[in-house]
Amino acid sequence: MSERYDVIVIGAGPAGYVAAIRAAQLGFKVACVEKWKTPDGKPALGGTCLNVGCIPSKALLASSEEYEKALGHLGEHGIDIDGVRLDVGRMLARKDGIVAKMTKGIEFLFRKNKIAWLKGHGRFAGQADGHYRIEVVGDEGTEVSEARNVIVATGSRARHLPGVAVDNVVVCDNEGALAFPGVPQRLGVIGAGVIGLELGSVWRRLGAQVTVLEAMPGFLAACDEAVAKECWRLFTRQGLDIRLGVRIGEIAARPDGVSVPYTDAQGQSHVLEVDRLIVSVGRVPNTEGLGLESVGIAPDARGFIEVDERCRTRLPGVYAIGDVVRGPMLAHKGEDEGVMVAELIAGQQPHIDYNCIPWVIYTSPEIAWVGRTEQQLRAEGREYRAGQFPFAANGRALGMQAADGFVKILADAKTDEVLGVHIIAATASDLIAEAAVAMEFKASAEDIARVCHPHPSMSEVIREAALATDRRALNL
Ligand code: FAD
Ligand code: NAI
Repeated sequence: MSERYDVIVIGAGPAGYVAAIRAAQLGFKVACVEKWKTPDGKPALGGTCLNVGCIPSKALLASSEEYEKALGHLGEHGIDIDGVRLDVGRMLARKDGIVAKMTKGIEFLFRKNKIAWLKGHGRFAGQADGHYRIEVVGDEGTEVSEARNVIVATGSRARHLPGVAVDNVVVCDNEGALAFPGVPQRLGVIGAGVIGLELGSVWRRLGAQVTVLEAMPGFLAACDEAVAKECWRLFTRQGLDIRLGVRIGEIAARPDGVSVPYTDAQGQSHVLEVDRLIVSVGRVPNTEGLGLESVGIAPDARGFIEVDERCRTRLPGVYAIGDVVRGPMLAHKGEDEGVMVAELIAGQQPHIDYNCIPWVIYTSPEIAWVGRTEQQLRAEGREYRAGQFPFAANGRALGMQAADGFVKILADAKTDEVLGVHIIAATASDLIAEAAVAMEFKASAEDIARVCHPHPSMSEVIREAALATDRRALNL
């Protein structure tokens, strides 16, 4: 007789583990299937985000920022440091320690919430008696469990280029790029997207000469155009060599390096010679080997599981959340979907306003936004007012040596409702939360402008940008 659960979650990344915890909080008997193993073969929870994504990349971003500061950026504070040395091994060990602490933390949360961790690869194996049968193939053999509700949260993996083998030594995706044993002298990056810019920045700060090859003719097309323009100026000034509008040819990898032939935007042929190459050209959803056909679900042409706005598939009791479904591939979007689906199963009426999901790129300075860009509003024919305020006019930013960037607020011309907020700032990832809250509550720019903000703080720039939508900025 197979074990019966109220809810089985397949995948314990941020979408799946949060869904499992919320379902358990709501009183359900929950199991979560997870197959992840660490490089030394130990099973681990947390998915891409904790093991090879958000958490390790932010640890390395922080370490590399400290190194860069120590190298010279502290001089302005009157602090001179001689003999700065880099120990990449210790930097990686710190990152691995943080990852281990976080993934163990989820094991603790599973025990606390009495969630069964079914270790191995999960797949649908048909349905009987109103229950879906889930087969789990693990190290100890195959087990079958059953549940009335199944949440698919199998996430995504790096997209690779056809004909380019990723060995994660010389040619790397995110996994290898988070674990270079030393700083490559010449690093190539294909794709000037989020991973390319974040991990490109890490290795540039540590001393690599970084060249980024991007297929699109424009830079950071998803960002507000004013933000993209300013970031281009800042990142190229920092030394990232970004080449737009390229077409990559046949890549030749050797044990000691990679030759990347490409055609530039003017049609000229070049060959980029690098010691290591990061391929960061997007991610693809994990739907293979899930037995979806056994219950009559077919992924769409791009491999995503089709769901409605509440993450329901066409099968009653089967939901899909996180990177495996439409929408931005962001950990916090998956987490919110996990909570929503667990509450739906419990008969509640949750919903997500996808327009209010913030984006952050953790470069230096950070880029963050929520809502519409100016070019989107123009395309939609919506009348709006824009207010922008620079951190260079903020006392806290100057004190922190963080005067680069600005806040830009877009508000409806008639109602004054905030439609989009765009930030470039050292602490944009934290500042954007105020904007997300404001937009969830349908705040007007005037509402933000009337709220007392602490002085001196970076957050004052948000208030000033709100005032600027009405040409009332006080400190400029
Ligand atoms: P995942 O985290 O991919 O987890 C899916 C889990 O399902 C995996 O553990 C996998 O082993 C398991 N699984 C898959 N199939 C099966 C199966 N059949 N049986 C059992 N288990 C299975 N997002 C942010 O919001 N902020 C960031 O700063 C950020 N940084 C990132 C940095 C990098 C380098 C990368 C690669 C990604 C980053 N992301 C970031 C994106 C973020 O990691 C993903 O959006 C997030 O992990 C998606 O969560 P998920 O739960 O849907 O999937
Ligand atoms: P991405 O979609 O952000 O960027 C990929 C880039 O590669 C694009 O600019 C694209 O035009 C380019 N590209 C595609 N094919 C190419 C080719 N053949 N030649 C040259 N350029 C090519 O994808 P990325 O950086 O791989 O990240 C994947 C996802 O992971 C992100 O979209 C995001 O959802 C998530 N992520 C989020 C982070 C965050 O929230 N801070 C950090 C890292 C990843």
